[in-house]
Amino acid sequence: MDKMWAGRFSKALDKEADDFNSSIHFDCKMYKQDIKGSIAHATMLAECNIISKSDADAIIKGLEGILTDLESGALGFDFDAEDIHMFVEAELTKRIGDVGKRLHTARSRNDQVALDIRLFMRDEANDIIALIKKLLSAILVQAEANKETILPGYTHLQRAQPIMFAHHLCAYAMMFIRDIGRIEDALKRMNFSPLGSCALAGTTYETNRDMTASLLGFDGITLNSIDGVSDRDFCVELMSAFALIMTHLSRFAEEVILWSSWEFKFVELDDSYTTGSSIMPQKKNPDMAELVRGKTGRVYGDLMAMLTILKGLPLAYNKDMQEDKEAIFDSSETVKKCLSVFAPMIETMSVRADKMYAAAGEGFINATDLADYLVKKGQPFRSAYKTVGQIVGKCVAEGKTLETLTLSEYKKFDNLFEEDLYADIDLKNCAEKRISAGGTSVESINKQIEYIKRFV
Ligand code: ARG
Repeated sequence: MDKMWAGRFSKALDKEADDFNSSIHFDCKMYKQDIKGSIAHATMLAECNIISKSDADAIIKGLEGILTDLESGALGFDFDAEDIHMFVEAELTKRIGDVGKRLHTARSRNDQVALDIRLFMRDEANDIIALIKKLLSAILVQAEANKETILPGYTHLQRAQPIMFAHHLCAYAMMFIRDIGRIEDALKRMNFSPLGSCALAGTTYETNRDMTASLLGFDGITLNSIDGVSDRDFCVELMSAFALIMTHLSRFAEEVILWSSWEFKFVELDDSYTTGSSIMPQKKNPDMAELVRGKTGRVYGDLMAMLTILKGLPLAYNKDMQEDKEAIFDSSETVKKCLSVFAPMIETMSVRADKMYAAAGEGFINATDLADYLVKKGQPFRSAYKTVGQIVGKCVAEGKTLETLTLSEYKKFDNLFEEDLYADIDLKNCAEKRISAGGTSVESINKQIEYIKRFV
């Protein structure tokens, strides 16, 4: 097939160079956006009397037919076409004849592709927000059921202080809520139509860019035609937001993996989200969580690729920019897959409150509370801290716990100790006492749950 630009050339493009140059294998994903954009463009061309109303009607009918046939499978992509834009235009002309050749008036593939990718990524970003909301719902199910489930909170992966499992889960919800905010911010900034910027300089036709912008659901138009075709900041912004979602998923995945190990046994993943081993009959592996952790690398890589593609590009359009698509498609596809499997995995996991409680009972995680007890009785915190350190030392040496030490043993360290100390170091009380705003008390958890519910 002759290229659209064959008139200028005396020789055909080398076969390998042609394959190298072609993007239809991946930009065919944007067929719907490309056709929607073309319909809006044809509508505007007729309204502005740049093409006739009857030509526009024929073009629009032709484009709608192509869309229907692509969706039904009656029409397949021609992978010899250079890209999705060339394919749709060629197919249109095949169907309606020379009238189809009027569609590309006052437009270039440069603004066309800039438009398509915005439209495509706008949908993707909204899908991802919906999936994050499903994950928030899954977290809420577990948080509501575990408001009073005690587990050791960790710092340095060393048992630190008792917390409620719901409090730990809500921490992840806060991260995902910020992720929604970041995507929404990016969406606001990117929702301006580049269509009509043409190749780079605008056009001599009296077009109406506001009309196409509003037909396509944009908040306005990009104000500089060079920027309109060269800008891929929105890709970087979305991919950064996606990378951070993966960071959060990966941290969560890491904990799920640890918690499902025999060493912790805090949770058991449902059979439908675990796999067995080909050789070890006893195994139940958290593959989904591991894959989410592993796929984080891909999404980071995609972001790096995008940034590197843009770095050093002179204005305006350069073919390098064709490389944006595989990176950003991979990034959003991966995030969608990870969120889709992660949410039900969390919702169906069973929580071993007994194991969490047992772990909380070891490691002296109520030592801070014992120090606070002495402070309540009048000791300065630093002295109380030192005394409790010595008590813990004695317990470690003698294989005792703070709960099993007798009052007379306590009194040898400080006469301020009384029988009521035991209530103060009871694990449940320790967590429940953390009434400061944002702390692990049930009251604070209830407030967090109410807040999270506003986003689902
Ligand atoms: N396939 C191209 C891309 O994805 C479309 C734009 C081509 N523009 C051009 N001037 N060659 O970037």
